[in-house]
Amino acid sequence: MWSMSLDSYVSLGRSGLRVSPLTLGTMTFGEDHGWGASVEESEAMIAEYLDRGGNVIDTANIYTNGHSEKIIGDWFAARPGLRDRVIIGTKFFANLFPGDPNGGGAGRKSLVAALENSLRRLRTDYVDVYWLHNWDRTAPIEETMRALDDLVTAGKIRYVGVSDLPAWKVAEAQLLARFRGWAPVIGLQAEYSLLERTSEGELIPMAREHGIGVLPWSPLKSGLLSGKYSRSRAGAVDTRRAELVGGPTERDYDVIDVLERVAREVEATPAAVALAWVRQRPGVTSTLIGARRLDQFRANLASLDVRLAEEQIAALDEVSAPALNFPAENNRMLAPSLGFAGATVDGVRTSVLPLLTASDQRY
Ligand SMILES: NC(=O)c1ccc[n+]([C@@H]2O[C@H](COP(=O)([O-])OP(=O)(O)OC[C@H]3O[C@@H](n4cnc5c(N)ncnc54)[C@H](OP(=O)(O)O)[C@@H]3O)[C@@H](O)[C@H]2O)c1
Repeated sequence: MWSMSLDSYVSLGRSGLRVSPLTLGTMTFGEDHGWGASVEESEAMIAEYLDRGGNVIDTANIYTNGHSEKIIGDWFAARPGLRDRVIIGTKFFANLFPGDPNGGGAGRKSLVAALENSLRRLRTDYVDVYWLHNWDRTAPIEETMRALDDLVTAGKIRYVGVSDLPAWKVAEAQLLARFRGWAPVIGLQAEYSLLERTSEGELIPMAREHGIGVLPWSPLKSGLLSGKYSRSRAGAVDTRRAELVGGPTERDYDVIDVLERVAREVEATPAAVALAWVRQRPGVTSTLIGARRLDQFRANLASLDVRLAEEQIAALDEVSAPALNFPAENNRMLAPSLGFAGATVDGVRTSVLPLLTASDQRY
């Protein structure tokens, strides 16, 4: 049987950091939000993930109000020698101090303080990838990038990532870093799944152009693509999460129908197929998997055994095709006929616009 494994490592963006194709997401670690996993179940997922060769763990200061970081920190503190073998990423931006305007965001004061608090909960003296969790419209991006570069120099973080920013803001950050010689952005976290593909318009092309690896989050759309939902099945669903995002719409069910058909064909679960689809998308480096229970986690790891045929990918692509913002569609339609005058460039065969041939040109 074809299969890949968690130790088929890939470079994250234009960097020397080697990561597993699936990252262990820990937004579900701890029960503070009401839809997460117990400490024991969370620890079992860490153990099994590392045991299978996985090397990236993703958390954030805000996840279960710091409990997610603490679960990870306690686990590694009890196993000396293991921490340096893994890549621990955490995020700043969320404000955990009500009423304090500098308790969150992307200004220098708040992000340095947030890191100190994360290091304390994680019981480590450095973070491998420090992620800006969201766009702070009031903090100048040059202040954020310079502060992050200082933290790299100080040895408190190794690399810089960004999450959920507009593409133009990431491009600005990256060009500033490049021309100033600061630590570049090497990873982008963005929502990406068969039910949410609008990142394909701007974010993913930007990331590919700028040497940034993409880590899709909510690849199962908070569970809607996990197999729990089917057009033909009514009644209660075993979920704590999916209800928060609302049940599937009619259009979502169109996608789920094709997902179920492909899953039957390849003898895998819908969850495994949905994860295999996102994993093979252009620009994607490592998919963030999330689970509330160990059995879900194992089902998600099984996506590594799934290889989709071209026709199956095409069927999934077609039914889930997103409506993208201008100019994505306009440019896609015109791309084959502009610029290359009928030549084949980078493997793309182009055509000549019928109204303008060489003999028509007078100027
Ligand atoms: N940067 C960001 O802004 C951002 C945002 C969100 C997430 N993330 C990261 O991405 C990771 C994954 O995101 P996510 O948790 O939203 O992923 P997801 O896979 O879309 O949703 C996970 C949820 O789906 C259900 N589920 C998962 N696997 C299942 C399976 N095999 N069978 C049945 N149900 C299953 C569980 O909920 P129920 O059992 O309750 O239905 C689980 O809590 C997070 O842990 C976090 O690290 C980052």
